[in-house]
This record gives sequence, structure tokens and C-alpha cells, in this order.
Amino acid sequence: MEQKIEEMKPALVKAIQEAETLIALDEIRVKTLGKSGSVTELMKGLGKLNPDERKTAGQVLNTFKNEIGTLIESKKQELELKEMNERLANESVDITLPVRPNTNMGRIHPVTQVTEEMLTIFAQMGFEVAEGPDIEDDFHNFEALNIPAAHPARQMQATFFMENADNIVLRTQTSGVQIRTMENKKPPIKIVAPGRTYRRDYDMTHTPMFHQIEGLVIDTETNLAHLKSTLMEFMKLFFETDDVALRFRPSYFPFTEPSYEADVGCSRENGEFKIKSGAGWCELLGCGMVHPNVLRTCGLDPNVYQGFAFGCGIDRFAMLKYGIPDLRSFFDADMRWIKHYGFLPLDIPTITSGLSLNGGLKR
Ligand code: DAH
Repeated sequence: MEQKIEEMKPALVKAIQEAETLIALDEIRVKTLGKSGSVTELMKGLGKLNPDERKTAGQVLNTFKNEIGTLIESKKQELELKEMNERLANESVDITLPVRPNTNMGRIHPVTQVTEEMLTIFAQMGFEVAEGPDIEDDFHNFEALNIPAAHPARQMQATFFMENADNIVLRTQTSGVQIRTMENKKPPIKIVAPGRTYRRDYDMTHTPMFHQIEGLVIDTETNLAHLKSTLMEFMKLFFETDDVALRFRPSYFPFTEPSYEADVGCSRENGEFKIKSGAGWCELLGCGMVHPNVLRTCGLDPNVYQGFAFGCGIDRFAMLKYGIPDLRSFFDADMRWIKHYGFLPLDIPTITSGLSLNGGLKR
């Protein structure tokens, strides 16, 4: 046995020392210590020896096996360190390099940009972002919002129904996310929910798919003044001016009582649209105090909790802020349009650096 080991050892030790990669080293391990490796074969041969010989040969062989195992292990650690250092050297990124010029080619769609702007503001005001599905059930889109079957308010929104399933719809409003939130979370609640919505409409200011953002605040002492000041603060930050006037007109939505439509002060002089107080009014969004029936359906006691909600069209806000005349063009995928109205990818809106450079001229 000793003799056999003496014959094998030098070449084996040399091979281990000279292995250049982890793969090569592992091949050596398999060839020696693996199932039918050379050392393992010697181990198997022990059975044929008589007991005395087996004892001494066994000891020698075990020592040899351990020695080879230790050698392979330490070589493995050495190679792993070497490979890691090589990777670190290869994968390092020079963060001082200028951005590649072609980053300038793509554009961020105004809807994406405006959604980001709105979420940035609401996040700063302490709102969490909530989401719901585009394909919604009748309960969350209508029923729980105090719009039972056959209620005339269903006609307010031309609904897309799913084929063979008339209780499943493409959501007509993000208001259903109010319900989903209240089902899963106890007040205080302060969320905004942006997303796609769908209605059977098509003209200059309506497309079958459009975007809304919903707001919901529920607590024990939330009132109309909170709603108005929240919207006021939001409008100032969003339109990037302090000269904002907000007007509430009585309206009707089944899920709020009282309900309002909010208008923002604006002027249209020489074809130029501007957000400012003291001139005309422009319709902005729907809002109100959450209806007690809605709270009850979600398991909240209206004698304890109350709150406000609002819902607005993101696309509409984008049109107003960036002077885009036709909603249909948003979804035409026209490269010339996106080049003109789109935003540079690295201009990420923040409250501190400005939502839009030079009040909307950053494209
Ligand atoms: N869901 C309404 C719509 O699509 C908008 C709306 C009005 C949402 C009043 C609200 C609200 O949360 O309180 O026309």
C-alpha cells in the first residue's frame, strides 16, 4: 500500500498545486476522492487484505486521503479568493464617467412623469401608495361604493363588462381601491391609488383607457377643512405656484356625502392657459366626505370613523400642466409627439430639486 501511495503522491500533489481554476481542481478531486476515484478504489481494495494488513494499510491510506483532502481544500480557498479578486477588478464601475449620450434619446411619457410628480408630492404629505386590480369585481367597483345593481349612478360610467361574466368589469374608477384598503387595514388610513381605468368613451378629452389617482383619508376627526387644505397644498406644489384658487361646487357621487367637484382658478389669455387666481375656473376633480354606507360595508363604525376621498384624472392633470390639447394623442405612440411632450429619463421629479425644471420647460 505504502508503495502505491508513494507512486501516486508526487504527481497528484503537483497537479493540485498547479490547478489554475476551481473547475480543474474539482476534476482532480473527483478523479481521486470521487466515487470511482483512484484513492477510493484503493479503499475498496482493503477488503481483500487479511485483518492485520488491512489495519496498517487502512491507517496509511486514511492519512493519505486526509492529506489530499486538506491540500484540495486549501487550494480551493486560494482559487476562490483569486477568482473573487478578478471579478471585483473586472466588474468595477467608474461612477465618475459621464452618462452615455444616447441616454438622451428615450423619453418618459407625460403620464408616467405626472404620476411620479403626484406621488412625490403625496408621499411628502404622508400618503402611502395603494394598488388594486384593473379587472375588478362588481362589488369593489360599484356595490361597496354605495352603487347597488340598477342604481341610476351606474349609467354615469359606460362600463366594459367581461364576456360571459357580467359581475366582472374593467374598473371604471380607482375608487374601488378605497374599499380594498379599508377591508385590509384599520384607520388611520392615508393612501393614494394611481392606476388605469376604463370606460366606453372616445373624443378629444376621453379615451377608452385613461388614468386616475384616488385619495382616501380615514381617521376619527377628519373633516372637510382637511380635504380642502390637502387639495390646496397639493395644487400649489403640483402647478408650482402659490397663486392657486380652489372652489368647491356641490355635486353628486354615491360614495361621498356631501360631494363636490373642485375647480381651480385659471386664465386663458391669447391662447395661453395658466393656473392663477382671480380669472376663470377649470374643472379639476371629484371629492367629498366618505358616505357612512361605504364605511359600514367595510366594517368601520361611521359614529367613530369619518374621512374624505378624492379622485382625479392623471391625464387631465398632465394636459393642464403641460398644455397638451388632445387626450387621444397620449396613446397614439407617435415618436414625434413623445419627442416633443416627453421628458428626459434622468429628470426625476423631487420636491427639493423641483418637479419640473423652469416650471415645465425641462423637455
Ligand atoms: N370615481 C369618480 C369618477 O371616476 C371620481 C371621484 C369622485 C372619486 C369623488 C372620489 C370622490 O374618491 O370622492 O368619476
